[in-house]
Amino acid sequence: MSGTRDLERAVMALRRGGLVAFPTETVYGLGADATDAGALTRLYAVKGRPADHPVIVHLGEAAVLDDWAVAVPPVARALAARFWPGPLTLVLEAADTVSRVATGGLATVGLRVPAHPVALELLAAFGGAVAAPSANRFGRVSPTTADAVRRDLGPDVDVVLDGGSCAVGVESTIVDVSGAEPRILRLGGVTADAIASVLGAPVAVGGTTRAPGTLAAHYAPDARVVVVEDEHDLGAAVAAVDPEDAVGVLALREVLGTVGLPDAATTLSAPATVEEYARVLYRALREADDLGIDVVVAVLPPPDGLGAAVADRLRRAAASGR
Ligand code: TXA
Ligand code: MG
Repeated sequence: MSGTRDLERAVMALRRGGLVAFPTETVYGLGADATDAGALTRLYAVKGRPADHPVIVHLGEAAVLDDWAVAVPPVARALAARFWPGPLTLVLEAADTVSRVATGGLATVGLRVPAHPVALELLAAFGGAVAAPSANRFGRVSPTTADAVRRDLGPDVDVVLDGGSCAVGVESTIVDVSGAEPRILRLGGVTADAIASVLGAPVAVGGTTRAPGTLAAHYAPDARVVVVEDEHDLGAAVAAVDPEDAVGVLALREVLGTVGLPDAATTLSAPATVEEYARVLYRALREADDLGIDVVVAVLPPPDGLGAAVADRLRRAAASGR
């Protein structure tokens, strides 16, 4: 875990235009000063991220929202009041203070107040806004531990703050509130139902705005990922894998209890709930690579609660065609 000295080093690094990895409740972020075009350009280079893909800008508290966004509609204030600090990103018309490097050239910006004490301490001590995509190379699995960040990014990151394992495990839900109707651009840590209950109406999911988290192929380990919608297809899916290939299985404990695991397969994780599935998902995909697993067969969780976000990430990992 990081201490006060690390926090001071991190703030100094941000002020100098450096890159700081820090924990949030969702995944670790790779942060740069959201007003510093030079620092942001380096951030994109380290991630290997195309320049037209915007990054999320993190704020220390909802009270500073109007310093970074303009024309904030009442629905945005209602969602911020309910879910910040927390795993919700609001897409709003950007204020001039936000570097257009962070917005990928768009007139809008994604803003969120994360709910992790280390992130909040960093933001409070820095005093500004920190642009931070997930701290992984573009298209790869997001890190949920400081160790995963170090292994991915190595010396390309100036300071890594260690805040333990991320409690949520999948990224924030992104809601675009810059248009006539709110839209969920990416499923995540806040459920669509919870958002609908604040808005008092169902909210559309999907959109045309550029968002790499919404690319069909994303979040991929080296192993090939195969998703199984129905647990009864698990045995057949494992049997269909080339016998030369090492197979890892990921499914709710309850599912593995009823259908049983084929002998040749390794259990990567058997979470008891959909929330635990979200928490262990990226770690399990990374472990699959560490273990030399060639094919991960994952049984999708039911779409209740965080299950919808878990299924979304698994489908995208499967679509990468690796
Ligand atoms: O939980 C999270 O959201 C994590 C932590 C670190 O906060 N961050 C994260 O960042 O997942 P990243 O860069 O991996 O994903 C950011 C997503 C992308 O899909 C991006 O396109 C979208 O946010 N985004 C950011 N600004 C946007 C905007 N103005 N319009 C539409 N999408 C936007
Ligand atoms: Mg990401």
